[in-house]
Amino acid sequence: MNIKEEILKLKKSLDVTVVAHFYQRDEVFELADITGDSLELAKKSMEATTKFILFCGVGFMGEGVKILSPNKRVLMPKIACCAMARMIDVDYYDDNIAKLNEAGIKSEDILPITYINSSAAVKARVGQMGGLVCTSSNAYKIIQKGLESGKKILFVPDRCLGQNFAKQMNLKSAIVGDGSDLNEADIICYNGFCSVHQQFTVEDVEFYKEKYDDILIAVHPECDPSVCDVADFVGSTSQLIKYIKELPIEQKVAVGTEFNMVNRLRDKNTYILSSTKPECPTMNETTLEDLYNTLKTMEVEQDEPYESEILVSQEDAKWAKIALQRMFEI
Ligand code: 13P
Ligand code: SF4
Repeated sequence: MNIKEEILKLKKSLDVTVVAHFYQRDEVFELADITGDSLELAKKSMEATTKFILFCGVGFMGEGVKILSPNKRVLMPKIACCAMARMIDVDYYDDNIAKLNEAGIKSEDILPITYINSSAAVKARVGQMGGLVCTSSNAYKIIQKGLESGKKILFVPDRCLGQNFAKQMNLKSAIVGDGSDLNEADIICYNGFCSVHQQFTVEDVEFYKEKYDDILIAVHPECDPSVCDVADFVGSTSQLIKYIKELPIEQKVAVGTEFNMVNRLRDKNTYILSSTKPECPTMNETTLEDLYNTLKTMEVEQDEPYESEILVSQEDAKWAKIALQRMFEI
């Protein structure tokens, strides 16, 4: 039996749901029971009836599942941390609040919103301050709702997402620490970013537009605002897939998001919007061998945590869940 057949056999014999984000390697992705963008994966994992969730993605996603489904045992074949989520911790977060306070903005006038790409501890801090979570597919709605509070939004950790949605909503944005006037802004962004999506540039857009005059450009909102401004479509991974799959097959499209996902989108007329290969290093860490080895450990029932099991402290889980539930309520 080859490793793929072994995995399929183990999946059948164990009480497990295998979950994979769109950015996973093809060979891992095709063995998953549930696939989707970060919001869909959080929701669908909650609905899964198995005792075990085997989550192929990055750390904050596995943590999210554990927070929302505390009775499930969540394991990750590789506990790889999203580089953007790693850019913020609770101390950095508190430091940003202090900078806003120094600028004369009181804590009670700030509504924090964290992109789902953040640790449980950061989500918990945001929850404690009355804030909530958003994902790239619902950010517009969440920010709009947040503004009804009359407070300034502190958006963490992705400055690009914050700036892009501020532009879409005709709002003013600023970045903490870059010298911009925080008092003028409706949305104040933490200075984090995704290094994978930073690889797409306006020059890449110009290159494709010059080469094919009828080509469309579709990008993820983690791309720089200068790139989103000249794109024909901006959306989350699921929204990008829907947009591109609905195009006539002869329509050329260049896509600004992670390589694995773009590569399996359509057979023809679909290009990576970059001269580099924009692979997410952490998403790519999970291999078939990791999947197999983790399933193998699950054959032995145990009460103590498995080596690759996701655990979240009770305090973080309590407040992070509140921040996540506020998102689901909108
Ligand atoms: P989605 O929510 O669109 O799946 O994005 C997650 C992500 O990490 C993109 O880089
Ligand atoms: Fe994180 Fe960027 Fe990878 Fe998405 S593509 S998981 S934001 S590092």
